[in-house]
Amino acid sequence: MTINHPSFGRIDENRVIIFDTTLRDGEQSPGFSMNLTEKLRMAEALEDLGVDVIEAGFPVASKGDFDSVAQIARALKDTVVCALARSGGKNDIASAGEAIREARRGRIHNFISTSPLHMKYKLRMEPEAVLDVIRAGNEAARQFTDDVEWSAEDGSRTDPDFLCRCVEAAIRAGATTINIPDTVGYSTPEDMARIFADLRARVPGADGVIFSTHNHNDLGLGVANTVAALRAGARQIECTINGIGERAGNAALEEIVMVLRTRHDALPYTTGIHTEKLLKVSRMLSTITGFDVQPNKAIVGRNAFAHESGIHQDGILKNAATYEIMTPESVGWTRSSLVLGKHSGRAAFRDKLRAMGYDALDEVQFNDAFTRFKDLADRKKVIYDEDLVALVDDEVRDHARIRFVALHVSAGSRRPAQAELTLEVDGKEHHVTAAGQGPVDAAFNAIRAIVAHDATLRLYSVGAITEGSDAQARTTVRLEEGGKMVDGQGADADTLVSAVRAYVHALNKLLVKRDRAEPAELSA
Ligand code: KIV
Ligand code: ZN
Repeated sequence: MTINHPSFGRIDENRVIIFDTTLRDGEQSPGFSMNLTEKLRMAEALEDLGVDVIEAGFPVASKGDFDSVAQIARALKDTVVCALARSGGKNDIASAGEAIREARRGRIHNFISTSPLHMKYKLRMEPEAVLDVIRAGNEAARQFTDDVEWSAEDGSRTDPDFLCRCVEAAIRAGATTINIPDTVGYSTPEDMARIFADLRARVPGADGVIFSTHNHNDLGLGVANTVAALRAGARQIECTINGIGERAGNAALEEIVMVLRTRHDALPYTTGIHTEKLLKVSRMLSTITGFDVQPNKAIVGRNAFAHESGIHQDGILKNAATYEIMTPESVGWTRSSLVLGKHSGRAAFRDKLRAMGYDALDEVQFNDAFTRFKDLADRKKVIYDEDLVALVDDEVRDHARIRFVALHVSAGSRRPAQAELTLEVDGKEHHVTAAGQGPVDAAFNAIRAIVAHDATLRLYSVGAITEGSDAQARTTVRLEEGGKMVDGQGADADTLVSAVRAYVHALNKLLVKRDRAEPAELSA
């Protein structure tokens, strides 16, 4: 099976196309919205990582989405830039076509639900009408590009005979990639194998298209289902960095790619991913969104290569292969976790940041980060990688509107707490003093006095980044406004500064969210 694809030409039968949807399915999930600059930075990092297709957004959803797809389309050199559209949505396909117009290689991905449940209750359409929409959607998309993908939303819960008819209609109408999503993360690997084997055996024209798999993680089976689909003939994998995405997320790119690399003996497939850049891109996403991965997350979690027990450590020292199935370096980890101290200079600091993936800092951000590093080094004996990540996070995030400048708090058991706060809003400094029930309340009241808003504080949580009483605090703040939820994070050796940074981060995200309209029918 060698396919001649409109964007990739002749593709070897074991070459797997990596389709990253971090900026669409991932960004769509609560708390993960990114602004245009952040999306562009992620898209460039994904291209550098070697991703084949980037789903950059859903242009008809909002002007912000349209602009980011268009900008990414202009910026990327090699990677296919894909725009999402509903097959039957008013203006969806035209908007997607316009957004990818300047891409060197552009794709339109159109979708409609095909399961009995979705057709009856969500679409309120008869199966024959859905078939008509599938034809019309793909034909319309082909007016803009030869690279057209079609998805059967809730495909894994679709009647097999009807799914064959839908796929046949999509191929006849010009689709070159056929994606069968497990939209609600319900399938098992056996289901996946059956679905893809069935389609490839029964649908006329199946041997001329790429089959694609897109798995949500509601039962924790996203990666397992992806592997099963590959074995059954799928050759495009839809996935996200750190597994972010709707509800429990999507199958994680870094996990799938490392399954293929580590178990090449059992799964003889190749990708174009430069695996040693995986950690860097994972960290970039955590920094931008404010969500760290859990410590035990495969490949990119802090403990993924940490060996605690004496028996394991002894084995590792004798031969790393005893307890390591892949090297930490192969995914971007460096062996030492102990880093710079107070005598380290700018060059060493810059080098370390670069090695950790923070090469996108501009001069102002770098200078701010260096000043904060020196300040931290004066107060803290040992500085770990985690400290540096937390410290530069605030610099790398895009503070389009609000920026923390300074805080002074007086508190204790004798008199009411008072916070003096300076924030920069749209480039102008504002200074207020506010009282509160305690230091945190006073500091948050001061923020509200500078930036008036109706958001409700839903979560305030503080933890220490490393050990010791001089450890930096990492704070998470969750705000809710009009049913929209955002999380912000901040870090500092001073717990209250960390709290204010987190609140300001959440407020900045809320401002981004306010500009966006949610598309009514996109339940993917
Ligand atoms: O999960 C899903 O069904 C989707 C489609 C839009 C591909 O994200
Ligand atoms: Zn999805």
